[in-house]
This record gives sequence, structure tokens and C-alpha cells, in this order.
Amino acid sequence: MRTTLRTLQRMCDNGERISVLTCYDASFALLLENSGVDVLLVGDSLGNVLQGEETTLPVTLDDMVYHTRCVARGSSKAFIMVDMPFGTSQISPENTFENAAELMAAGANMVKIEGGHIMTETIRFLTQRGIPVCAHIGLMPQSVHLLGGYKVQGKTHSQAKRLLEDAVILEKAGAGMLLMEAVPSTLAKKITKTLVIPTIGIGAGRNCSAQVLVLYDMLGIYSGKKSRFIKNFMVSADSISEAVENYVKEVKSGKFPGLEHGF
Ligand code: KIV
Repeated sequence: MRTTLRTLQRMCDNGERISVLTCYDASFALLLENSGVDVLLVGDSLGNVLQGEETTLPVTLDDMVYHTRCVARGSSKAFIMVDMPFGTSQISPENTFENAAELMAAGANMVKIEGGHIMTETIRFLTQRGIPVCAHIGLMPQSVHLLGGYKVQGKTHSQAKRLLEDAVILEKAGAGMLLMEAVPSTLAKKITKTLVIPTIGIGAGRNCSAQVLVLYDMLGIYSGKKSRFIKNFMVSADSISEAVENYVKEVKSGKFPGLEHGF
């Protein structure tokens, strides 16, 4: 049976950490869930790691539908979360619903939307109509040009206050999970303690309910500079399955991320 949002909420309530990895195809979907990964994120990072794009901006809804179908066909146990790519959640709640419905029909169990309080109405609209939403705050790669690069967010007192307020507003609007990317560990801890829903961290310290990494990063396949929050699990493994199993073990035990992976 496939993991549900209720299962993830129960794990969070019981203090069991949730393991998440990005996944874009059927073969890896099966390998990851058999290695114990709870959530497969069909991330728009596929623009970078599969398509060779510099940013996630060129990724289309059709791309996401295609990869969601592949992941859904290859797996039967893991919960499937899917990114809404750039331009598909910004126009109106109604338009976002139409786009999200395509992803749900392709096999998504939840969609992920980048954006803070500006997404409140959209998240309310979708969740009231049966589409679970994970809100993505902090570093939002789809806004890279506005942010002026891939930088840590929420470092000043006022930015941190805004992020905490956004998290509370988005939970109230119906978000079922909240992903925080590249935010100070102390802020992520505070937000996690304040919310009831599970939080997912990437570059957000060790106190989130769940942890995610880009699959290619944790397998040591990266071009250019390695981000501080990445750990290459292939270094001490003999196979990809072993690397993924070690990732799951370290997330569950709280060993990963370590202090050195946070900001
Ligand atoms: O697309 C992606 O890979 C993401 C990251 C936060 C893991 O959204």
C-alpha cells in the first residue's frame, strides 16, 4: 500500500523522521522505495540534473507530467510529491488547479508550490478541492533572478520573522507539508516547533521533521561547486542501494544532516 499524507503526519507526530529524495524515473523509484525512502519528490531540479539547464525555469508542465508518470509506474509504496514548475502556479488559483490536476492524474499524491504568503489563496483553493499541497519557502530556485543567486534566506531578524509568519499563514490555508530550503538552522527549528504539519529541510539544519536531497547530489554526481548541505553517500558505499539505505538510516537516526551541513 502506498504511504499517505496521514501516515507522514503520524510519523511526524510520533517523532519519526521522514526520508525524502528526488526521483525522476521508474527504475530509481523502485530502488529508492525498496531502500526505505518514504517520499519521492519529482523535483523540477530535473531541469538541472536531467536536462542540463542552468536553472529550473525552462521546465514545463508536460515535462513534470511525463516524469511523474514514470515514477508512479515504477513505485507502489512511496508517497509521490511533485513540483509545480515555473509559470504554472502564479497566474490564478483556478489556473493552478487545472495544472495541478494534470499532475495528480499522472500519479502525484501532493504538489509542491514555491512561494510564501502570496500563495495563501492558491493553497486554500487547491486543498479545499482535494489537492494536497506542500508549500516551499526560503530559497526558491524559481525566483533565482529576483533573489540574485542561490543564497541563504532568512538571515536578518525581519526576514526570519516574515518566513515564520508565512509558514503559519500557509499551514492555516491548508498546506499539508512545508519545505524550507537554505534557511538558518535555528529558524527552521523554530518553524518546525510552531507548526503541526511536517516540515522538510534542505540546508535547514537537523530539526526538521523530514530531510530531502537531490538524488544526483547524494550519489556524488554534481557539476561545479558542492553546496554545504550536500553529503555524498557513495563515498562509503559499494552500491547505489547501499548509499540510499545509509541515507535513510542517517536521516532516521538524526545523524544526517550534521551541524556542518547547516547555516
Ligand atoms: O526540485 C527539487 O529538487 C527541490 C529541492 C528542494 C529538493 O525542490
